[in-house]
Amino acid sequence: MKAIVQDTYGSADVLELRDIDEPVVGADDLLVRVHAAGVDPGVWHLMTGLPYLVRILGYGLRAPKARVRGMDVAGRVEAVGRNVTRFQPGDEVFGTCEGSFAEYACAREDRLGPKPANLTFEQAAAVPISAGTALQGLRDKGQVQPGQKVLIIGAAGGVGSFAVQLAKAFGAEVTGVCGPDKLNLVRSIGADDAIDYTREGFTDGGRCWDLILDTAGRRPLSQLRRALTPKGTLVMVGGEGGGRWLGGFERQLMAPLSSLLMGVRLIGLIAMERQEHLQFLRELIEAGKVTPIIDRTYPLSEAPEAIRYLERGHARGKVVITV
Ligand SMILES: NC(=O)c1ccc[n+]([C@@H]2O[C@H](COP(=O)([O-])OP(=O)(O)OC[C@H]3O[C@@H](n4cnc5c(N)ncnc54)[C@H](OP(=O)(O)O)[C@@H]3O)[C@@H](O)[C@H]2O)c1
Repeated sequence: MKAIVQDTYGSADVLELRDIDEPVVGADDLLVRVHAAGVDPGVWHLMTGLPYLVRILGYGLRAPKARVRGMDVAGRVEAVGRNVTRFQPGDEVFGTCEGSFAEYACAREDRLGPKPANLTFEQAAAVPISAGTALQGLRDKGQVQPGQKVLIIGAAGGVGSFAVQLAKAFGAEVTGVCGPDKLNLVRSIGADDAIDYTREGFTDGGRCWDLILDTAGRRPLSQLRRALTPKGTLVMVGGEGGGRWLGGFERQLMAPLSSLLMGVRLIGLIAMERQEHLQFLRELIEAGKVTPIIDRTYPLSEAPEAIRYLERGHARGKVVITV
């Protein structure tokens, strides 16, 4: 089968389209014929091995242990292991797995769900990681409530474009922060208000929000705190451009201590992939409350170009690879 493979950590130049063996399916796994694979910054981190924290966490000290990139997947079940009960060959699925930038990928049963009936494979592949992260940030960590004022920083990005729609679905009043060319997009997906961060400050204390979801974590916590109501919550999702060792993740690690020192709720998110999230999201998607925004699609052979595009940090929604 064809797959995007890397032998060493590095830039997108280390990725090669190769012919390799199909993955071997374990008793609890499924073999998925991949139709589309989402691209997100996690792919970039595993490709580069940066920050070094990624390597220490077990992904391979000198070279990536898993050589085929890609996690988000949408496709059709080709074969099932003997313990698999919920799926059968031919089912259309979406979820996460290891090595989705390939014609076939092996996925755990508990990381997949039935594909939303009203989405194409390309749209479905955009959902699992980014929408799952937005869901956990807003619902599980942020405990968003109807009527709350919610600020999404990075509202036009992969996580942010889902977060705006989810926050609206939860009944919040939503403000999105984005660059000047994305104000219309952010309003069109449901934000009540959109702030162009190149022209307007939002951390001077003039306006406050009950919940802030920060997906572009470059602003100091002391600034963000000024934009929170006294009982407000800041959920830190991420942000690129930090140091080589921790990549800005130190903000998340320090969240409990910073919370104590600053007297507000600061929460670092480490998103997990769960079947329950897929099911929850599928219901919202099929009800028309959440729709993936696809910026660009690339064929499998152009996966390196897809990652280079995402790396520039200004995608409009999601980037997807078609297989
Ligand atoms: N904690 C976790 O478990 C977890 C899970 C998933 C992702 N993440 C992290 O979350 C971050 C976002 O992921 P993503 O998929 O949404 O990335 P993305 O699609 O590249 O979006 C990044 C967004 O950041 C915005 N941005 C850039 N500079 C900004 C600034 N100065 N102020 C406000 N916004 C700015 C961009 O908006 P404009 O184009 O409008 O400038 C863009 O929409 C990444 O760092 C990723 O690694 C963490």
